[in-house]
Amino acid sequence: MSHWAPCLSTAAKINLLILVVSVAFPWSSLSDRVPEFALTKIEESDRKDDSGKEPLTEDDADPEDLEVFYPTHQWQTIHPGQAVPAGSHVRLNLQTGAREAKLPDSNTENGDTREGKRRKRLGKVDVDSSSFTSQELKKALAKMKESEKAERKAHEEEVRKKFRPIEQLKEEFEKLNVKMETDYEIMVKLISTFNSSVSTLDEKVAALYDLEYYVHQVDNAKDFLSMGGLQLVIKGLNSTEAVLKEHAAFVLGAALSSNPKVQIEAIEGGALQKLLVMLATEQPLAVKKKALFALSSMLRHFPYAQQHFLKLGGLQVLRSLFRQKGMETLHVRVVTLLYDLIMEKALLEAAQDGDQLEEKLRQYGRVRLAPALLEQDWCAVVSHMLPAAEHDTREKVLRALGALLGLCRQRFRDDAALTAALRLLRREYRALAAAERRHGDRRGYFHEMLGSVDSLLRELS
Ligand SMILES: *[C@@H]1O[C@H](CO)[C@@H](O)[C@H](O)[C@H]1NC(C)=O
Ligand SMILES: *[C@@H]1O[C@H](CO)[C@@H](O)[C@H](O)[C@H]1NC(C)=O
Repeated sequence: MSHWAPCLSTAAKINLLILVVSVAFPWSSLSDRVPEFALTKIEESDRKDDSGKEPLTEDDADPEDLEVFYPTHQWQTIHPGQAVPAGSHVRLNLQTGAREAKLPDSNTENGDTREGKRRKRLGKVDVDSSSFTSQELKKALAKMKESEKAERKAHEEEVRKKFRPIEQLKEEFEKLNVKMETDYEIMVKLISTFNSSVSTLDEKVAALYDLEYYVHQVDNAKDFLSMGGLQLVIKGLNSTEAVLKEHAAFVLGAALSSNPKVQIEAIEGGALQKLLVMLATEQPLAVKKKALFALSSMLRHFPYAQQHFLKLGGLQVLRSLFRQKGMETLHVRVVTLLYDLIMEKALLEAAQDGDQLEEKLRQYGRVRLAPALLEQDWCAVVSHMLPAAEHDTREKVLRALGALLGLCRQRFRDDAALTAALRLLRREYRALAAAERRHGDRRGYFHEMLGSVDSLLRELS
């Protein structure tokens, strides 16, 4: 087979390939596609495919619909849909893609031509055409036409899928007469709106709101950094306007998410202190929510920040949220953050190997979270949250209780209210899980919840 390509390109140069196929069997597969492809088609396996798998129904193939090509001793173009009788010689004109056929010359039959010999040498299969009747040929042809049609249709679909949306977009943009701007250009504009002394408060808020969308992308967040946007946003954290603080924290949190470069710059820029101040002082709930969001993004997968968070008394700040009125919606978020931090460290410690594992273990070793959790009695804080009304909250609290087991087991055991709450939940989830099963869901949400409750009760008994 490897010989074919060079042979072909030479042949292609002389434009007319004297490809003599002693038969026309899958000739319609020698289609208007690439000649190389067409040439390889005369293979046993292909013939099987063409004649096998999907038999056409009566309606699909009426042999009488097909035209038959009548060969002479001259080469004639075969028109699409024409069936070529057994024994004809067929060639492909590589320049036009047209197929031509004629009656075989008596002295070149049996593959004695140069081409015939070459094809034999290269392992091409000569189909013994004389064994096919014209009826069989028509049938086979009908099948090939079908598969060709399907192929063409699939190809068209593919092209349409690729090009339609772009075409449509362009049209829509042209209609709106909008020039496509890059994310970079847009961010430059938004930052300058936020930074401008002539912008109104609403304009600044809108700019931050839009920026939040862009900085989610890691590359955009890096650009945001190099444009000086991060520093501006950190400065915005202690704006006198609550709504600016809120949106500045929102942008910061988005830019920080899983972005080590931004995490480092932000902690060096003093963002951690400012966020803790926002959480520790009297602020509207909306501001605290976004501050907590940014804090979580800052701490996740960044042991250096976690260490400083503990040093700065961050855990006490979070603890104080449980004493303030009106902050209940923050509680479950705090518990989720703690769960994440505990698991992050535990998973790393359980890891057998990994990228820079030693160095990471060293860094996480400095994050002395457990003693601080015990000292501030987070065991009780979390367990008191369990009689929550919402399944989702319960799920998160159960998860956190599980993560705290290693630390809080004895305290949990001594906590009669916790055991009572767990038993109540067990009763409730047994019923719900049974209902779930009746609806055919054997491993549903309530089944999982019941599993968590059961395993906690087992651990505490
Ligand atoms: C914000 O504005 C100040 C004063 O107009 C300017 O010095 C500073 O470069 C601006 N910062 C950014 C990031 O555009
Ligand atoms: C903002 O922070 C700076 C330093 O961190 C501080 O001096 C300033 O008083 C703060 N402003 C407000 C409005 O909180």
